[in-house]
Amino acid sequence: MKKMIGTGPVLSPLPLLVIGSYDHEERADAMTAAWGGVCCSAPPCVAFSVRESRYTYENLLEREEFTINIPSASFVAEVDYFGIVSGRNIDKPTICGLTMTPAPDVHAPMVEEFPLALECRMVKTVSLGSHLQVIGEIVGILADEEILDEDGNPVPGLMDPILYDPRGKKYYRIGEEIGQAFISGKKFQTTVYQI
Ligand SMILES: Cc1cc2nc3c(=O)[nH]c(=O)nc-3n(C[C@H](O)[C@H](O)[C@H](O)COP(=O)(O)O)c2cc1C
Repeated sequence: MKKMIGTGPVLSPLPLLVIGSYDHEERADAMTAAWGGVCCSAPPCVAFSVRESRYTYENLLEREEFTINIPSASFVAEVDYFGIVSGRNIDKPTICGLTMTPAPDVHAPMVEEFPLALECRMVKTVSLGSHLQVIGEIVGILADEEILDEDGNPVPGLMDPILYDPRGKKYYRIGEEIGQAFISGKKFQTTVYQI
């Protein structure tokens, strides 16, 4: 029997994102975000949520362009640090020894050492309460060649993303492949129950 465990923003695990933005002096900032994901296929869009108190929030309102970087598990300490210190007065990436490079198609920095970066243009914001949801169109995807398969698609196992459990406040790695989308369920298509 299931047990009621209350309420809260619990959907676990979530892939950790690092938002790259420039401030008004062109200083690069990197912020960890867990509240985010894909929200539209065409045009391809992602959404993440940010509190007004974050420096990233100010940068986004001014610049309206940002990157979403997917860190590898080996950078878990750096990504946690990006999530506990503000870039308002501190150069977080330099302290961690990470390099912020300009994205080619948007005015925003990417984390060079992370395997995947999405270049995003803000299309809409939705005020939800504690957080502002920022929806961005993906105008470019930059990937390290080492994480790509022969068709040019990023392989999750090679990317080795960080997964976050918001209730337990712990970080995890992905496990093994267990099926193929739009194919695994086909075994049930042979039986048709008339309703
Ligand atoms: C695991 C983790 C997830 C986080 N997710 C979010 C989030 O989704 N939205 C948000 O506004 N802050 C989130 N934070 C907090 C910000 O990353 C943190 O306040 C950061 O210092 C803000 O940086 P900035 O002021 O340079 O923008 C998260 C922090 C951690 C450690």
